[in-house]
Amino acid sequence: MTKHLTDAKVVGQRILNATTKEMDLIAPDIAAEALPGQFVNVQVTRHTAPLLRRPLGVAGVDRENGVLTLIYRILGEATHVLAEACTGDVLSLVGPLGRGFERSAQKPLFVGGGTGLAPLLYLADDFCARGIKPDVLMGGRTETELFWKDLFAGKAGKIGLTTDDGTLGAKGTVMALLPEMLQAEQYDIVYVCGPAPMMKAVSADVLARKIPCQVSLEKYMGCGLGACLSCSCQGVGRRIKVCKDGPVFWAQEVAEW
Ligand code: FES
Repeated sequence: MTKHLTDAKVVGQRILNATTKEMDLIAPDIAAEALPGQFVNVQVTRHTAPLLRRPLGVAGVDRENGVLTLIYRILGEATHVLAEACTGDVLSLVGPLGRGFERSAQKPLFVGGGTGLAPLLYLADDFCARGIKPDVLMGGRTETELFWKDLFAGKAGKIGLTTDDGTLGAKGTVMALLPEMLQAEQYDIVYVCGPAPMMKAVSADVLARKIPCQVSLEKYMGCGLGACLSCSCQGVGRRIKVCKDGPVFWAQEVAEW
């Protein structure tokens, strides 16, 4: 697959909650080829620090109009700068990058938290286009973090919700509902994306039931192209580069969360 270096025009930003925004960019080459689970490297600004690019998972594409959707948490200098971008601003993107999700499931379950739900949103679009609505289990600290349920509306079958403080859905982490959901249906692949402790706990339970499980790892990335080793971590029997070998892995390939 070709990697494109492209100048993408911002065509809109939308506030999703106090710390999360959605950005639409015109990037026809990337939108035409990006697969669910892949990411783009965004150069936040050309003029001042931070100079490094930031990896952001693709949250959706509109191929007809060449639009790429990214969802990001405003955390740190780079994403604060990104949050200030206005319609008409141009950002340099490299992508699509990385290895995406296996998409052969007939009865998928998604489990996600935070911006880990962004790539799952695009994966839900992909399944829906083939007439399959995934069940989704999502967790957050509190109700305001579960705005994702509205983004998944119409794209999901059953939606399970959990919050740490019990303000919405079951009280606790996603582990409070996971066993119940796994017992109720025969899922053929479980896709997990979110904080590392959540992915570790969920994948251990899913693999113990002999259900295939994919995870999307998030690590600091310098180059995003397999050259700098900043994203390297321990896989089973080998070192893995999250940017190039992943970010999506089969759960049993991962040794270090
Ligand atoms: Fe440089 Fe992965 S980010 S090797």
